[in-house]
Amino acid sequence: MADSSTPRAAWSGKWAFILAAAASAVGLGNMWRFPYLAAKYGGGTFLITYLLLVFTFGVSLLLLETALGRKTGLSAIGAFKAFGKQYSFIGILASAVPFIITPYYCIIGGWVARYTAGYVVAEVDAMADGGGFFTGFITSPVDSYIWMAIFMALVFIIVGLGVKGGIEKANLVMMPALIVMAVIIAIYTLIQPGALEGAAYYLLPDFSKFSPELVISALGQMFYSLSLAMGIMITYGSYLNKKDSLTSSVVRIGGFDVGVSFLAGLMIVPAAFVAMGSGEAVATQAGPSLMFITLPSVFTGMGSVAAIIGFVFFLLVLFAALTSAISLTETLVSIVQDGLKCARKKAFAIVIAFVLIVGSIINAGYNILDFIEPLGAGSSLLDFADFFSNSVLMPIVALLTCIFVGWIIKPKTLIDEVRISAPFKPAGAWSVMIKYVAPVLVIIILVAYVAAQFGFFSM
Ligand code: PHE
Repeated sequence: MADSSTPRAAWSGKWAFILAAAASAVGLGNMWRFPYLAAKYGGGTFLITYLLLVFTFGVSLLLLETALGRKTGLSAIGAFKAFGKQYSFIGILASAVPFIITPYYCIIGGWVARYTAGYVVAEVDAMADGGGFFTGFITSPVDSYIWMAIFMALVFIIVGLGVKGGIEKANLVMMPALIVMAVIIAIYTLIQPGALEGAAYYLLPDFSKFSPELVISALGQMFYSLSLAMGIMITYGSYLNKKDSLTSSVVRIGGFDVGVSFLAGLMIVPAAFVAMGSGEAVATQAGPSLMFITLPSVFTGMGSVAAIIGFVFFLLVLFAALTSAISLTETLVSIVQDGLKCARKKAFAIVIAFVLIVGSIINAGYNILDFIEPLGAGSSLLDFADFFSNSVLMPIVALLTCIFVGWIIKPKTLIDEVRISAPFKPAGAWSVMIKYVAPVLVIIILVAYVAAQFGFFSM
């Protein structure tokens, strides 16, 4: 069904696809939100819940999106529209998500780049001053923009080199490097005095922390972390060859993502535990403070190796952020190219202009526009972009997608697509998941997130 007048990109093979999807999935979400959630919700209790959710719900949705992309050979808007004009709005909503996330993701990518550079030029102590450095940097009217632009430039260069020449090669270097660095840092933190107690806090389940909030937080984290409900996996599926197995691919993508989240927790929770004295204290460090304020202090405490450990840590986070931002940008290019039926070059130029302009506006929320507090006192434009995309739009898109596949085009349409390349035994269970279980879970997340935001209960 693809339009042959505008040649589409394609993966060089199944492994390139798995690596790219994993590279999209593994990102800032794994690095800073997962460890904090695990610390908050009883360590092992959260780990077990998360694992179960990813390998039931998560891989089911990954399979749905990649199969839809491969079947139609189109990115989100076209993929839904292929079944009737009246459904293109689902694709439009899904496509809106990366348009919101990409600009602000690049801002945070800029923070990570700034810290990585800080360890190179020996600002180890300056960055560990308890928050002053961080606040000064993000509110700066010049520096924060420069680092955002540096991060964006790296992303644009790689996407500009194309799917095979840029994205695949970058993933092939950055993903293995990221994992090696994560293992090194995890081992190093675990041999610090007192760290094993922190590791026990992270690994052993405290079932008293099991709660509906835990499940809802785990579900929300899973969506974001697997890059679901925003058209990315539809686009990536559309670049895939009909003979490559989808089922084994999605299980590997899920495994990759969970594995890196687990490692991130193993690096961060014990280290922060030592610095702060208890797991409960770590659990209070929501948002950027764990990564940009607490960890630099932990590194400084390591003495002579502080600069090296800090550098390796932020470099690995930078790689994770870059590979995700690349997938977001590639998705935007694909949406614009399909939408305007134009050449890739033109679509890319439009995307660059959009990301730069919107990124600058959101970044201004920390400095010249800081009087705008969309979610109440102290909140920023970035918080709003994050809340609106993750907690509102993504659940809505996921719900509509499940209804669309479960009740309109019917699961069988995609089951047949999956079966072109490999047997699919749990097809019955998958249908039940898409028709009944997933929609109910997604409605729960949506209601809970919005209610929590407006203060009806706390999460
Ligand atoms: N999954 C990425 C992460 O965990 C974030 C992301 C969201 C990437 C959306 C691409 C698209 O950080």
